[in-house]
Amino acid sequence: MSAHPVPDPASASDPEEFWETRYRSTRGENGQVWSGRVNEAVAREVAELTPATALELGCGEGGDALWLASRGWRVTAVDISATALAVGAAEATRSGLADRVDWVQADLSTWQPPSQFELVTSAFLHSPVELPREVVLRRASAAVAPGGHLLVVGHGATPPGSALDHHQHDGPPLPTPDEVLASLDLGEDWITETSALVQRPAIWRDGSEITLVDAVLRVRRAYPTQDESDPPRYPR
Ligand SMILES: C[S@@+](CC[C@H](N)C(=O)[O-])C[C@H]1O[C@@H](n2cnc3c(N)ncnc32)[C@H](O)[C@@H]1O
Repeated sequence: MSAHPVPDPASASDPEEFWETRYRSTRGENGQVWSGRVNEAVAREVAELTPATALELGCGEGGDALWLASRGWRVTAVDISATALAVGAAEATRSGLADRVDWVQADLSTWQPPSQFELVTSAFLHSPVELPREVVLRRASAAVAPGGHLLVVGHGATPPGSALDHHQHDGPPLPTPDEVLASLDLGEDWITETSALVQRPAIWRDGSEITLVDAVLRVRRAYPTQDESDPPRYPR
């Protein structure tokens, strides 16, 4: 979470302009907008999975992508902001992970995943400007390889002072994990492993201790029944 004010969503003409302005102008003490650390829910939900290929949607400055790479995942990290990706790429080089992350600048509202991945993850893919999140996440589910996982972490409640406040006044409330699951419209070959609202303590921008709520959904795509005799590409 950032300790700095965000640009006015109403003054941005398109999502790329809004997020570029955000990443260029509102850095914290670490020189970044976000903490640079992996999101707690991502670390918890991925810890037990066997590293393989991962796709991260809306990676920002790469806190999660770099953590995944450090754990042995081969990561494709996508975001609309070239400035945010440059921060992640520089950190990847600094920490010797450059060959484990591909940074892709793209608008997820139209971008198509080039292949399937054992893990597709998105953390806090929220935006106060145009973002067809349900469409993006449905497309993301199609990019999960059999035996792989889709992890969606979002805000379960609007963080205080967030730019989402502006959006929420006019838009729908933040979806619960079960509502995200329903919107994905997954087939019977999917197993729900986590669907939970999880509270976590945080230090807010004014230094106060607050409680944030994460909406966490982890689903696994089963192997097709007819392929059960084939050697699995990814361990069960
Ligand atoms: C709230 S930030 C979360 C960043 C990161 N996942 C994290 O947890 O720190 C949302 C991210 O989604 C990205 N984003 C928003 N709309 C997008 C779009 N249409 N295409 C690609 N990325 C987008 C933004 O640039 C931003 O980095």
